[in-house]
Amino acid sequence: MRGTGGATDGALMMHAGLSADAMDAIGARFGGLLDETEDQAGVSAALKALEIDAACVRRCAGFDHGNRVRCEIARAPGWVLLAMFWEETASPIHDHCASECGFRVIEGELEETRFACAGDDLARAVATRRLRVGDFTKTPGSTIHQLGTPQGVAGARAISIHAYCPALCLETMGIFEATDPERAAECGGVLDVELSEE
Ligand SMILES: [Fe+2]
Repeated sequence: MRGTGGATDGALMMHAGLSADAMDAIGARFGGLLDETEDQAGVSAALKALEIDAACVRRCAGFDHGNRVRCEIARAPGWVLLAMFWEETASPIHDHCASECGFRVIEGELEETRFACAGDDLARAVATRRLRVGDFTKTPGSTIHQLGTPQGVAGARAISIHAYCPALCLETMGIFEATDPERAAECGGVLDVELSEE
């Protein structure tokens, strides 16, 4: 496993920096999802129910101002679990190719902007929202979005946990340019979806 090495339990690999409680919780929630089957609903439900907080992942990675730090904390044949550390930064506008992505904020706040496809590699901002500690959502692979710390907030930090099923392929995921970057930055529409339903 990438990083500092990991603990293995058959098909399940975990980052050695995880707290013991986190390892136990991941084993309990994801232990039934270790075969090759890509049970997207099951993986997202496991993340939604996972007992994990920021203290559990602090020794796995850290913040890097202006960049998001992606740290693989657990992996099985059909899915991967990442911790992301954000400090005054945002992801590119992207989709998830064939992967469903469930994610939860466990520290700070994130801003999510959703986009509609507007042609080859172009996307138009539709709505934005704040995600706070405990908020969970999931997005099918076709969803186009951007995540980041709230704009204009100096020193803003957040940590989130993301479950991708199957594991996200960074080489094939779609990356988009905003049709109107200012609109994307200021988009104040309200997403018409409930956090718990997505
Ligand atoms: Fe995403």
